[in-house]
Amino acid sequence: MPKTCDRRGGVALAASRLRPSPNSIEPRIALNEVRRMIKRLLVTGAGGGLGRYVRERLKGSAEILRLTDIVDISPAGRGEEVVRCDLADRKAVEELVRDCDAILHLGAISVEANFDALLQANFLGTYNLYEAARKAGVRRIIFASSNHVIGFHPVGERLDEKAERRPDSLYGVSKCFGEDLARLYFDKFGLETACLRIGSCFDEPKDRRMLSTWLSPRDFISLIGRVIEAPAIGHLVLYGVSANRDTWWSNGHAEFLGWKPQDTSEPYREAIEQREPEGAAGSDYQGGRFAAAGILD
Ligand SMILES: NC(=O)c1ccc[n+]([C@@H]2O[C@H](COP(=O)([O-])OP(=O)(O)OC[C@H]3O[C@@H](n4cnc5c(N)ncnc54)[C@H](O)[C@@H]3O)[C@@H](O)[C@H]2O)c1
Repeated sequence: MPKTCDRRGGVALAASRLRPSPNSIEPRIALNEVRRMIKRLLVTGAGGGLGRYVRERLKGSAEILRLTDIVDISPAGRGEEVVRCDLADRKAVEELVRDCDAILHLGAISVEANFDALLQANFLGTYNLYEAARKAGVRRIIFASSNHVIGFHPVGERLDEKAERRPDSLYGVSKCFGEDLARLYFDKFGLETACLRIGSCFDEPKDRRMLSTWLSPRDFISLIGRVIEAPAIGHLVLYGVSANRDTWWSNGHAEFLGWKPQDTSEPYREAIEQREPEGAAGSDYQGGRFAAAGILD
């Protein structure tokens, strides 16, 4: 029997300002705006690009942020714990997850790579994390999935959460595995997951494709906040994308979250279209160059 879980806590996000400054640093969540607190939120991949956004901007979302990565990251500040850990090390991951209420799972190889590398970090690492979470009684995981699970759909095709997965790379396959593992752990154990199919989360969109796929850091953080604070999410697939004019992805099924992206790639369109000719390699497919590339040895 599938189970659902009540949340033990959550956060309220600072009210987002409306445009026009998608790059400005959103103020940290003010403590007086935090409605309910989770005690300890584990953030894997905390040394990476998205991990750094989280560390800067999600302070206050939990009493303690436990930040982990396989590489050294800067020492713990107030309300932080820092643990160095290889997600492929099962025993170490069991220790890492202990006493955490929720997990934001960003740690992974985040681009195409050879299978052996992906096997360790993305397949084994994600399995170890879910097993440790199950044993430790963690209630909710936010899994950084990727648009590359659907990257072989043609550009322009509108997709929702039910779209067939068409991974464009071994990396995309590793994220399909993570989504399926999350499904299994919800159906079997009631461990909730939001699988965020993140588009392209950078300070600014960098190319034509990102005019459709860009997720601003501010929208990324507000999406995480909504997922953490929602009373129940079950197994939820979401597209992590800002309010771009030509987006290919719909989150119509997840309106209950009340998440409204504030940013759009439009202010960057003119400059990008001027500097980049149409029809770059792989651009017939939503995964862009990932779809065009071969398999790495
Ligand atoms: N940035 C984006 O636009 C985007 C798009 C789609 C999906 N994602 C996903 O979001 C997550 C974060 O992305 P990012 O851009 O910050 O990537 P990133 O490469 O900057 O960060 C990933 C972090 O994971 C860590 N890591 C790798 N292998 C590990 C292991 N075995 N054990 C522990 N830590 C390990 C790395 O050291 C790194 O700090 C990734 O899972 C990525 O696949 C990101």
